[in-house]
Amino acid sequence: MPAVAVLGMQWGDEGKGKIVDFLARDFDYVVRFNGGDNAGHAVKVGGRRVGLRIVPAGVLHPHVTNVIAAGTVVNPQTLLDEAEDIPLDRLAISDRAHVVLPRHLEADRGRGTMGRGIGPAYADKALRFHAVRVGDLLRPGHKLAVLRKFARRFRECVCDTTALLNDALDRGKRVLLEGAQGALLDVDHGTYPYVTASSTVAGGACAGAGIPPRRLGRVIGVVKSYMTRVGPGPFPTEAPAREADALRKTGLEFGEWAGRLRRCGWLDLVALKHAVMLNAPDELALTKLDVARAMKRVRVCVEYRGARPVYDEVGADDLPTFVAKRAKVPVTILSFGADRRDTMQRGS
Ligand code: IMO
Ligand code: MG
Repeated sequence: MPAVAVLGMQWGDEGKGKIVDFLARDFDYVVRFNGGDNAGHAVKVGGRRVGLRIVPAGVLHPHVTNVIAAGTVVNPQTLLDEAEDIPLDRLAISDRAHVVLPRHLEADRGRGTMGRGIGPAYADKALRFHAVRVGDLLRPGHKLAVLRKFARRFRECVCDTTALLNDALDRGKRVLLEGAQGALLDVDHGTYPYVTASSTVAGGACAGAGIPPRRLGRVIGVVKSYMTRVGPGPFPTEAPAREADALRKTGLEFGEWAGRLRRCGWLDLVALKHAVMLNAPDELALTKLDVARAMKRVRVCVEYRGARPVYDEVGADDLPTFVAKRAKVPVTILSFGADRRDTMQRGS
């Protein structure tokens, strides 16, 4: 079976984690291919809620091997904290992934980013001068205690994940690629310079995981019923304060890790078409429909006149059909809440 990718179609925080968790039952591998602990993915099953930053959202399925692939940047301390309870034979970390170092965190302060050193780590990777990769950590002689600790703890997980995944596909195993961030944060095709440092689109998923495009068979785009953005940058459909507050309260749009307020606004179908062009998703997952329901009717930007969004008002229950028709992509997964049982497959 070809690989499947689950990718954000907006500025992140679309609910990728819960869609990955929902689908992961039917997969053998779940793979993070880009970014690092700037991501914040939450999964909730029954009473149990797990917040994830770098570990793939396959963790709540004991049969899944979670892979942190070559295109990522890894903060050793975050992984030590987050992977504490994960059996080591269920975790694989690319020896080619780059390491986020204290100097990267230092350089990433006050920049309107997640402040996790992601941009500086990718900058060092591109510079090729003094970057450190995960494979380098296995050699002795590191001054930083956290790097020695990482090597001690994860030695047996570090491997060539590119070969691992391609071999797995050869053997008919099922591989799910989990995107971090979203299309509008893509370093090449997003709202530059207000973007993240890595590729977040389908092509980037292949590159970051080391899986040839021919082996990617299906792309699922994740779309939130309204839009949010963390940090600065253009947001044409941003709602006025009162509406934004209502969306934020109903949708609990506070950052997963820093508790930062997310900017809130209305679904932008023009921007979604851009994301669809970049990713050619086979299907869409529409999330936070419970929030749309609580608002009863939501506004949806259907076009721009000049630089001004033009809105349609859509009833929450009509939203999936409306989005599918306008985006020309079937909406096959609906999500009405944080818990795994709040997500359902829909006949398209
Ligand atoms: P998930 O995977 C929302 C945003 C930051 C900032 C910009 C650059 O949870 O959807 P960075 O730290 O990447 O250099 O920050 O990108 N950003 C995200 N916004 N969700 C995310 O991840 C994000 N990852 C980065 O707020 O504006
Ligand atoms: Mg998030």
